[in-house]
Amino acid sequence: MVSKSEEDVKWTRYARAYDEVVGFFDAYHTLLDRVVAWLPRCGRCIDIGGGTGNVSIRLLEDDRVERILAVERNTAMIVRFCEKLAVRGASASGKVDIVQCDALDLCFPDGIFDSAIVVNVLHAVQDSRRCVREASRVLRPGATMVLSTSHQDTDVESLLEAIRSSLISSGHYHQLEDMFEVVAENNRAWAAHFTRDRVDDILRFVEESGFRIDAGPVPAYSGSVVVISAVKRRP
Ligand SMILES: C[S@@+](CC[C@H](N)C(=O)[O-])C[C@H]1O[C@@H](n2cnc3c(N)ncnc32)[C@H](O)[C@@H]1O
Repeated sequence: MVSKSEEDVKWTRYARAYDEVVGFFDAYHTLLDRVVAWLPRCGRCIDIGGGTGNVSIRLLEDDRVERILAVERNTAMIVRFCEKLAVRGASASGKVDIVQCDALDLCFPDGIFDSAIVVNVLHAVQDSRRCVREASRVLRPGATMVLSTSHQDTDVESLLEAIRSSLISSGHYHQLEDMFEVVAENNRAWAAHFTRDRVDDILRFVEESGFRIDAGPVPAYSGSVVVISAVKRRP
């Protein structure tokens, strides 16, 4: 078992490298497009494990939701997210709030959000079921959660190879080689202690947390994740 502070050191080291590298990974952008396309127009959306803000920012650009609240635990991720928002100016910053809190213990009352996005986070938290239960708790009945997650059959080496190929074909590999190595090294180290659930189990515990599966699972991110849309059942 890795302690929270050890995990935090890794995420801090990962923040910049991850952000720069995925920026040139086509399959990541395609994934974000799908996640956003599956989200209905609505008022308040919570981005759980928002990282450096890529999903929130894509949502912001799409103008699909009125307000976004991103929850993230790691300070370095949040700092980078804030820098990206600052570049986009006051209207972006005014629409997005970032709260430093644990996805396993969300610091919000029940039923206050109209939608949730959870992109590539379940493998990273210590209790994936609790993360989904917390998402369900803060959503109102009828709200949609779009979830992208790796799973037991995710092949980390194939994913890394796909990222490397994408960097090479876009001409960014040499410039980002060191960053890519940080991403690769962290993912290999994490593979040993992160739990990746079976897709069947993920679908089951999403349903047990009060959702009805609405779409998916469909593969994305070079076959490394599945994307699911789920609607919170009405009582
Ligand atoms: C692979 S990143 C994905 C970030 C973002 N969703 C994206 O698609 O770019 C996983 C994120 O989950 C965050 N995270 C891990 N455990 C967390 C927890 N218990 N509470 C909140 N965030 C957490 C990490 O700090 C990291 O930013």
